[in-house]
Amino acid sequence: MEQENIILHTEKMVRAQLLNEKSGHDWYHIERVTKTARKIAKEESANLFIVTIAALLHDLADDKVVENEEQGLATIQKWLESQNIMKEDIQHIITIIKHMSFKGGNGIPLTTIEGKVVQDADRLDAIGAVGIARCFVYSGQKGQLIYDPDIEVREEMSKDQYRHEKSSAIHHFYEKLLKLKDLMNTETGRKLAKERHHFMHQFLEQFFEEIHE
Ligand code: ADP
Ligand code: NI
Repeated sequence: MEQENIILHTEKMVRAQLLNEKSGHDWYHIERVTKTARKIAKEESANLFIVTIAALLHDLADDKVVENEEQGLATIQKWLESQNIMKEDIQHIITIIKHMSFKGGNGIPLTTIEGKVVQDADRLDAIGAVGIARCFVYSGQKGQLIYDPDIEVREEMSKDQYRHEKSSAIHHFYEKLLKLKDLMNTETGRKLAKERHHFMHQFLEQFFEEIHE
C-alpha cells in the first residue's frame, strides 16, 4: 500500500510538472513509457516499484525539459527522500535516470535489469507510429524541415555533429530512430521493437515514393 501511494504521489507531481511540455516529453510520453516499462518488467522479473518510479521520473533531469541536468537530478533526489523510499532504492533510481539518455548511452551502460527495462521502454516510445509522431513534433519545435533533400543522409555521426549540424525530421530516422531496435537490452524489448521498426521502414518507403512521384 505504501508503495502504491508513492507511485500515485509521484504520478501527480510529474503530471503537473510536464503539463505544458512541448518537446515530446509531455506527460503522455511518461505515461506510455511507464506502462510499457511495467509490462516489460513483469516479463523480465524486474522490480516493479523501482521500474515504475524510475520511468515516471526519467525525463525530469533531461536538458530538453529542465535548464540544468544536475539541478534536475538534485530535485529528483529530494523528491525521493521526501517519499520515504529506502536509501539503496533512491540510489538505484537516480543511477538509472542519470545514465538513461541517448547521450548517457554512449558512455556508461546500464547494468541492472530495472535500468535496462526503463531504457527499453523509453526507446520503444521513440519508434513506431508514436515515435514517428514525436519526431515530427520535436522537429517542428526546433524549426527543422520535414525533409531537406540538400542534407546528406548520415548514419554515423559524432556527438558534436549530432548536436550542431543541420538535420531534418526524416534525417533523424537514419541518425537515430532506425538504430534503436538493435540497442534494445531485453528480449521482451527486442520483441516489441520489431513491429515498430518495420512500420518505420514502411513509412519511409511510402514517404520517398510520394515525394519522387
Ligand atoms: P527521450 O528523452 O524520450 O529518450 P530524446 O530526448 O532523445 O528522447 O528525444 C525525444 C523525442 O524527440 C524522440 O521521439 C526523438 O526521436 C525526438 N528527437 C530528438 N532529437 C531529435 C532531432 N534532432 N530531430 C528530430 N527528432 C528528434
Ligand atoms: Ni523519455
